[in-house]
Amino acid sequence: QWDIARASEIVEAHTHRDGAALPVLHALQEEFGFVADEAIPLIASALNLSRAEVRGIVTFYHDFRRQPPGRHVLKLCRAEACQSMGAPRLARQILEQEGVDWGGTTADGALTIEAVYCLGLCVCAPAALYDGEPVARLDATTLATLSREARQ
Ligand code: FES
Repeated sequence: QWDIARASEIVEAHTHRDGAALPVLHALQEEFGFVADEAIPLIASALNLSRAEVRGIVTFYHDFRRQPPGRHVLKLCRAEACQSMGAPRLARQILEQEGVDWGGTTADGALTIEAVYCLGLCVCAPAALYDGEPVARLDATTLATLSREARQ
């Protein structure tokens, strides 16, 4: 739940640092799961940046979410080793089945599917992260299980 008072405290806690924008954004995302639009003017004025500069940083780094995520987050690796082991087909299947695009959350709020670029698990490609836990040798059966689990 986004909380402007709590967000202000987090921003305040970082203002003394040089190059604080990224640490602030990471801290906000860690606390709330996303960076609300409301945070942009807050950060801009605290760090003496323009709103456009802050917005630019948020959009440049794909790690930052602009919307609250679903109850569970599945990150599918889209880097080379996983691509060569069938990740694109699996990704197409699950995105289609869940009715979302990259970065999207299912209508029931159960699952957000995001892209990630190499998890260091190339030897067990295709790889993914489900709520931060590594998933090795992803296949259609595992995806179906995760999709079910997300609804339990
Ligand atoms: Fe997917 Fe390295 S390429 S884990």
